[in-house]
Amino acid sequence: MNMEWIKNIEDEALKEIENTKTEQELLLVKSKYLGDKGKITLGIKGIKDLDPSLRRDVGYLLNEAKRKIKKAISEKKFVEEEEFFDETLPPIMPSFGKLHPITKIMNEVVSLFVQLGFSISEGPEIELIEYNFDALNIPPSHPARDMHDTFYVDDKWLLRTHTSPVQIRVMKEKKPPIRIIAPGRVYRRDSDISHSPMFHQVEGLLVDHNISFSNLKGILSFFLQEMFGHDAEIRFRPSYFPFTEPSSEVDIGCILCSGKGCRTCKNTGWLEILGAGMVDPEVFKYVGIDSEKYTGFAFGLGIERIAMLKYGISDIRLFFENDWRFLTQF
Ligand code: DAH
Repeated sequence: MNMEWIKNIEDEALKEIENTKTEQELLLVKSKYLGDKGKITLGIKGIKDLDPSLRRDVGYLLNEAKRKIKKAISEKKFVEEEEFFDETLPPIMPSFGKLHPITKIMNEVVSLFVQLGFSISEGPEIELIEYNFDALNIPPSHPARDMHDTFYVDDKWLLRTHTSPVQIRVMKEKKPPIRIIAPGRVYRRDSDISHSPMFHQVEGLLVDHNISFSNLKGILSFFLQEMFGHDAEIRFRPSYFPFTEPSSEVDIGCILCSGKGCRTCKNTGWLEILGAGMVDPEVFKYVGIDSEKYTGFAFGLGIERIAMLKYGISDIRLFFENDWRFLTQF
């Protein structure tokens, strides 16, 4: 063992490391030089047999060689096969949040009435029994009061079953002219493919001098044609609500079968869209508005129903399951 031999071993090892193509080859080279019986290891073990005058320099060179070989092994990188990159492919876009279909329809309805000069009012979802029923001329014996329809909180409060009590709150607060809509959540003890225990309504109320049923017809016809298309057929059908007189339900020609008759319109060719009527003098009396001086109309519509018709959805519960696959379709 002399200086030149050590240098040669070192060069040989570094060259072999450079030529390895895989991790496995590298391990073999490592054990060939640095393993228990490796050339460098054996060299170091042999130092003790050398002439004492040589030991220091040989030891130094062997340790240097060992250090360089180790370093080369740890820094060794294998060139991976280059991946094919197609720069013409579209990028993976981040996904954005979307408005819930109910929110979309709600916004559409509200903005149409705002265009017509209505302003937005809100009332509490936990409502006085008195405002939800009595004030709206719904006597205690009315079927809407049945425990089956209403979530009572206690003997004074309930979860409002409709947005109509907002009419009472608004009319108690301010005097005519009044022109408001009240969007919001309502609650009923009911659940099947067309009923959900929580759903959304928009209430409308307009009170002023000389308001007549033809004003109501004009406003609602405009709204429905904006909502369902300008050739949507509209009919006002006599009906009954305790808080309006006369009362009417408003139908549109079935948008699914164009009036020919199908399952959705129960073969009638018509779809019931909203309830409306002239504010009953009893309601004016409750809020202290003189029904000799003022008249008004009110209407109420269900957002889920409109959304189901517009989007062709047959089960109302889909709106509230929050299934991502459903919600991203709108
Ligand atoms: N509140 C009624 C309901 O929930 C809907 C309604 C009908 C509202 C006629 C009105 C109206 O303002 O005039 O079924």
